[in-house]
Amino acid sequence: MAGSAVGLGNAWKFPTMVGNNGGSAFIVLYLLLTFGIAFVAFLAELSIGRLGGTDPVHSFEKLAPKNKNRWSLAGFFMIGAILIASFYMLVIGWILKYVFLSFSSLPNTTEEAGAMFGSLISNEFFNSFLCFTSVFCMVFFVVSKGIKSGIERLNVWMMPSLFILLIVMLAYSVSYTDGFIQAAKFLFIPDLCKITPDVVLSALGLAFFSLSMGVCVIPTYAASLSDGTNLVKSTLSIIFINILVGIMMGLVVFTFVFAYGADTTQAGPGLIFVSLATLFAKMGFVGNVLAVAFFISLLFAGVTSAVSMIEPFTFYLINKFKISRKLALTYIGVFVYILGILCIVSFYEPTSFTILNKSFFDILDYFTSNILMPIGAIVFSYFVGFILKKESLYILFGNFMNKLIFECWYFSLRYIVPIAILAIALYQILK
Ligand code: PHE
Repeated sequence: MAGSAVGLGNAWKFPTMVGNNGGSAFIVLYLLLTFGIAFVAFLAELSIGRLGGTDPVHSFEKLAPKNKNRWSLAGFFMIGAILIASFYMLVIGWILKYVFLSFSSLPNTTEEAGAMFGSLISNEFFNSFLCFTSVFCMVFFVVSKGIKSGIERLNVWMMPSLFILLIVMLAYSVSYTDGFIQAAKFLFIPDLCKITPDVVLSALGLAFFSLSMGVCVIPTYAASLSDGTNLVKSTLSIIFINILVGIMMGLVVFTFVFAYGADTTQAGPGLIFVSLATLFAKMGFVGNVLAVAFFISLLFAGVTSAVSMIEPFTFYLINKFKISRKLALTYIGVFVYILGILCIVSFYEPTSFTILNKSFFDILDYFTSNILMPIGAIVFSYFVGFILKKESLYILFGNFMNKLIFECWYFSLRYIVPIAILAIALYQILK
């Protein structure tokens, strides 16, 4: 689960959003919302998986025998994960391309770096296609091996590697004393004036995205947890690792940004693919080594998340139609591949197209992060808060929290969480 949670959301969205929303005040908010809201809803998603014990659709059916058909639809929020996978793997494809670029000479100025990134997206169809296809094969190969011998093995190996790479990079950034101190100040001294409604809502959105919530990933992984697992402690460790990686990434990225005077508010992928690529180039050979380490660690983080997006639907197809894992993955693969290629086509200049003024990539991103995920999270919280029996939840969590904490959790699951999520969803849609 930590492998799923830690991904491009922490590595790329987190530093970018911190940069754009005034630094530390954003982090304070992100922490408050993660513990106050996302934590509560995360436990609810875990309980669907633990009590249902199977794929999302069948878990909902089993847990709501009275309205089986209606509630089984809630399991189809897993389609959101498939949609995310298609554009997410394209971004991992760009990262793969940068791993190779880091072995040769990186662009020296931000203009050059911007032009290079722009050209990869809009002029180099074949390169984008090749990188996306390689990532696609890698991810589907891992999922084809199953949860235990594919996904779990990959995570057990990749997560510590990501951590070690990050520690090495962090240690290196400390040697840029001035930049490091500025980065630490930027990240840790809160400036509460920067908090606006917009910032609150984007922090909540990021908290959900970075914990992989609302699209059935958590219930699916939870279904294969062993009985003795301490759910509360595990959730806290996942959140802790998630935040730690985000902050470590933030420290590394901003140390270089400050040390070389780049712009902290650089939007979108710019911070990683443009600012950092330029900064690495300025460091000469050491920069190349760091760039390789950095992009490989991003690649690891992304692949373990992408794998988790494919598993829920695969698990469902296997159970529902009694087909083999390979066949289920073939169906899903064709769908995801076509969507991914459409994203590439929509960026490629000669064939580019937009829908309602947005690229196909942006539409998928907007529809999943701003519409499907928040609605999914509300539906799951409602289901656990109002449809599941309170006693079964107490049996599940009673060993890991005392009665008072359980009551607080239950209350906020029923009332605070749905209202807060509704606020974010409405704001995003009406804005
Ligand atoms: N949590 C992942 C990240 O931070 C993204 C993700 C979203 C993974 C939804 C699975 C499901 O990058």
